[in-house]
Amino acid sequence: MKTKITGNNLYKIFGGDAAEAVALLRAGRTKDEIFAATGQTVGVHDVSFSVAEGEIFVVMGLSGSGKSTLVRMINGLIRPSAGEILIDGIDVAACSGEALRRVRREKVAMVFQHFALFPHKTVAQNVSFGLKIRGVGKAERRARAHAALEQVGLAARADSYPDELSGGMQQRVGLARGLASGPEVLLMDEPFSALDPLIRGDMQQELLELQRRLKKTIVFITHDLTEALTLGNTIAIMRNGAMVQTGTAQEIVGAPADDYVAAFTRDIDRSLVFTAASVAEAPEALDIGAVDAEGALARMEALGLDAIHVVEDGRLAGILTWRAAHAALRAGTPLGEAVLRDVPAAPPQARLFDLYPLASAGLPIALGDGKGGLAGVVRPQAVFARLSRKDAREKV
Ligand SMILES: Nc1ncnc2c1ncn2[C@@H]1O[C@H](COP(=O)(O)OP(=O)(O)O)[C@@H](O)[C@H]1O
Ligand SMILES: [Mg+2]
Repeated sequence: MKTKITGNNLYKIFGGDAAEAVALLRAGRTKDEIFAATGQTVGVHDVSFSVAEGEIFVVMGLSGSGKSTLVRMINGLIRPSAGEILIDGIDVAACSGEALRRVRREKVAMVFQHFALFPHKTVAQNVSFGLKIRGVGKAERRARAHAALEQVGLAARADSYPDELSGGMQQRVGLARGLASGPEVLLMDEPFSALDPLIRGDMQQELLELQRRLKKTIVFITHDLTEALTLGNTIAIMRNGAMVQTGTAQEIVGAPADDYVAAFTRDIDRSLVFTAASVAEAPEALDIGAVDAEGALARMEALGLDAIHVVEDGRLAGILTWRAAHAALRAGTPLGEAVLRDVPAAPPQARLFDLYPLASAGLPIALGDGKGGLAGVVRPQAVFARLSRKDAREKV
């Protein structure tokens, strides 16, 4: 996948000569020690990362961990004390004047938490405001504002005023304002933090849906791990200005890099993070056209299974239990009649949460390969084992 944004060894020091503080950091001194010694604040400490085109890259961390500083460096609002930040290979930190304005105008848009809408302007005027100050003509402004409002489902409210809209709708206007300039990269700094939980959940789903349609590259900041896990293709966790872990939701929750990350993950509902594929075993199956009851029993015994999936012409056809195969052998009835045709099945990307009702049948769950065949098998015990925190450092 193509890399859209790269950060290389970024530092940001506030309040004085950065060279001294950077040297102290490189010598292993902490943010607090540097503040005590120099009065300078470490905003970002040796951060490197890369964001793939079209992904949602979430930066998560407590307040003061450096998230906003990082995102402001990406759009050139803050210049790094050291390091480089590349968007499509262009070093934003090294550009100035017209080149930097072009990056901001054409590539990047920012959506903030406290998106102050102008109360005396209509929704459409609010959305097109940024275009107006860039000198875009009236007709084009209207068209682009309308298209952006359409994307967030607010076209019908173009002539409303902000105070006539709910909090969630106002936030969508903020998003439309970001989209109106047609950016390739959206930077979102805690855009949903001020919303109440139900509306926030809706906005997260809308953002995912919007992302599926528009395929923007999004850097999304949050201090909430559940939000990070819901939205992020990749999640980077920041502490004291440094990125302490970067990975997928399953990697972060399954193997937290340190106690700080582990503390965040402790109360996470693991069934919403881990997928069926993460607990799957190899897809052992019998070809029902090529085996008799004796052969089936021998195969199950060799594999240590008390039930095995059955395929017919390469397609999943059911499941055979040891007990049923044994009964068929004793009665001399055809093995095909012993096969249970109704098998619990799920796609590999299903969450463990979705497997609960299937696991209750006590039979292994078939993971489909999308073409009618078998991609893997999940034992009910494996689902519950994955949910216990004891295996927290197991590989995922
Ligand atoms: N303009 C500034 N001047 C001095 N210190 C700052 C400035 N902006 C941020 N900081 C400090 O840098 C650190 C990171 O801040 P910030 O990036 O805003 O964190 P976050 O967005 O994660 O809450 C904090 O210690 C903060 O106090
Ligand atoms: Mg912030």
